[in-house]
Amino acid sequence: MTAQREFQFTDRDFRCLQRLVARHTGITLSPAKRDMLYSRLARRLRALGLRRFKEYCSLLQEDGHGEELRHFTNAVTTNLTAFFREPHHFDYLREEFLPAMMERRAQVRRLRIWSAGCSTGEEPYSIAITLADAVPPEWDVRILATDLDSNVLDRARRGIYSEERTAEVPERLKRKWFLRGRGENRDKVRVRRELRDMIRFRQLNLMHEWPMRGPFDAIFCRNVIIYFDKPTQSRLMDRFADILADDGRLFLGHSETLYRVTDRFQLLGRTIYRKVP
Ligand SMILES: C[S@@+](CC[C@H](N)C(=O)[O-])C[C@H]1O[C@@H](n2cnc3c(N)ncnc32)[C@H](O)[C@@H]1O
Repeated sequence: MTAQREFQFTDRDFRCLQRLVARHTGITLSPAKRDMLYSRLARRLRALGLRRFKEYCSLLQEDGHGEELRHFTNAVTTNLTAFFREPHHFDYLREEFLPAMMERRAQVRRLRIWSAGCSTGEEPYSIAITLADAVPPEWDVRILATDLDSNVLDRARRGIYSEERTAEVPERLKRKWFLRGRGENRDKVRVRRELRDMIRFRQLNLMHEWPMRGPFDAIFCRNVIIYFDKPTQSRLMDRFADILADDGRLFLGHSETLYRVTDRFQLLGRTIYRKVP
């Protein structure tokens, strides 16, 4: 069927884009996402002066279109996130994970956390706030925050948010870790430099080679694998298990499960996993 819209978009074009999305991001797009794909990519066709999705598919398949591939992958990702999203994970960090880790790592005094699929930064900043509040300042604490989407990473690095987005940050921590904007920015807040300095934001496609060696003490990969098919999830979990410390923890999103995906992790409860020894 060809929709009567600004740009011609056939079933074949949709299948072609589905394949390209899967190849470049690991994301599986169901037919229900067809309209979403049209509206997100229509902007790109307009910018490029194209008339049909067929031309856009051909362009993406040609060599030397890395820049367009970047726009394409940025357009197909879903970036919904929030500060202290799924708050039980941060309660667990504060009440169980950090006290135990601080005992076990007392000699090295080092902690490494990875926020994989960090979107606009609310997740790694929530981790940083929790760590900064609990771990003595002389410890070497670093958070790696990665995402495929270069636009969200730019926003994450700036660390500027509308005041209303920080509603879930407890008042005491908000006063401690956010600076209030002035004048025309008075409805905005900025994360303090000390917190920004704890985080390295890097572009990384989880489907590609990873430059870091680990081990990480915790990996947060929340609300990311929900978009991948099971074989892709299995491969990724295998790699997470390899790069996670033996006593590390893996945190997934509320609707994600490793049931029938991998046997390398064991559920501790509420989407928190430990590595199977
Ligand atoms: C819904 S957001 C989740 C943000 C945050 N983890 C949370 O739970 O609030 C999913 C993020 O995963 C990223 N993502 C999707 N596929 C990816 C891939 N292949 N490699 C790296 N990041 C990816 C998207 O760009 C998006 O920012």
